[in-house]
Amino acid sequence: MGNREAAEIMNAPTNDKNMLKALAGEKQARPPFWFMRQAGRYLPEYRATRAEAGDFLSLCYNPELAVEVTLQPIRRYHMDAAILFSDILVIPDAMGQTLAYKEGEGPQLEPVRSSADLDRLETGRITEHLQPVFETLKGLRRELPPEVTLIGFAGAPWTVATYMVEGQGSRDFANAKSWAFSDEAGFARLINMLVEATTEYLLAQIEAGAEVIQIFDTWAGALSETEFNKWCIAPVKQIVANLRAKYPDIPVIGFPRGAGAGYANFAAQTGVNAVSLDTSVPLEWARDNVQTSCAVQGNLDPLLVVAGGEPMRREANRILETLGNGPFIFNLGHGFVPQTPPEHVEELSELIRNY
Ligand code: CP3
Repeated sequence: MGNREAAEIMNAPTNDKNMLKALAGEKQARPPFWFMRQAGRYLPEYRATRAEAGDFLSLCYNPELAVEVTLQPIRRYHMDAAILFSDILVIPDAMGQTLAYKEGEGPQLEPVRSSADLDRLETGRITEHLQPVFETLKGLRRELPPEVTLIGFAGAPWTVATYMVEGQGSRDFANAKSWAFSDEAGFARLINMLVEATTEYLLAQIEAGAEVIQIFDTWAGALSETEFNKWCIAPVKQIVANLRAKYPDIPVIGFPRGAGAGYANFAAQTGVNAVSLDTSVPLEWARDNVQTSCAVQGNLDPLLVVAGGEPMRREANRILETLGNGPFIFNLGHGFVPQTPPEHVEELSELIRNY
């Protein structure tokens, strides 16, 4: 080995965590695992901490309690990664858009639908407003077991824009799409504001200790091919490039949920290290068309963990067998639902660990 190679190895970041190995493209005998919404209402200890915090946003902005709920599933199931406890809508909150989470109804925002509305958003106080989130990440780096990887995250611009424009969850995204179709430059301004804000937010997360970043594009599946390229692939690619300009080695996972065959282009074009597959993506297709460009993560149906038993085990094994021969992280195809029995999560975790 030459001196230069030896020096490179000594200076390399400690990359021995199995999550980081998968994201570097390594196949592993026992794939790493974590679950979307692994912290949440299916755990009684989460419900207790949330009650102590008062409401959901107060929990997101309370570093001590946010650290606690992030650690709760790790203590029970020993996942290979912990995901920061927060929400994708803290970005519109940091921009001064009114946001409330109503019990049983999901998030409610004062809709943003015109250039005049965009003029009222504040973009200068993102990092300052989100200080509690960075405190949570610092606390987690102190408290997490050394083998557990810390994931930071943000929503992708399109998905965050849908909530900002619709003012709530939506079935058809009629307001967001109508704006994008009838006034492309105006909608592009909102997307670009979100690219900037999300870049700043994620850079600060990395500085505070996030080792991996996941970008959630939950509503990517609502876009046709042209719109998918414009509002999903291009902004995510820009954010990845912005992060890499400062942190060339930061691993990024993209989740263009519902993108169908668009997953292949997303994987090839955005520069992400991995894509998170939603439940509908066929496994052999993903192995042959997506895992060829990057690592894959996924994609057990969260409702199978509600059912448990043989149907859950059969499908979990099929996923492990089909995707486990390449770089792979076991996960769900979307987040746990509140009615998930914790003992089924235990059984699933054991199955993956003993694979
Ligand atoms: O454990 C984890 O996964 C980390 C925490 C996390 C939450 N939200 C906590 C949360 C993450 C990564 C998110 C991302 C998020 N938030 C997404 C993208 C991923 C996805 O699920 O598709 C989206 C679309 C949101 C927006 C959002 N937040 C909605 C639509 C809702 C209401 C729906 C619901 O489940 O109540 C939330 C609230 C929310 N975010 C909860 C949690 C644990 C439930 C709040 C509560 O009542 O305690």
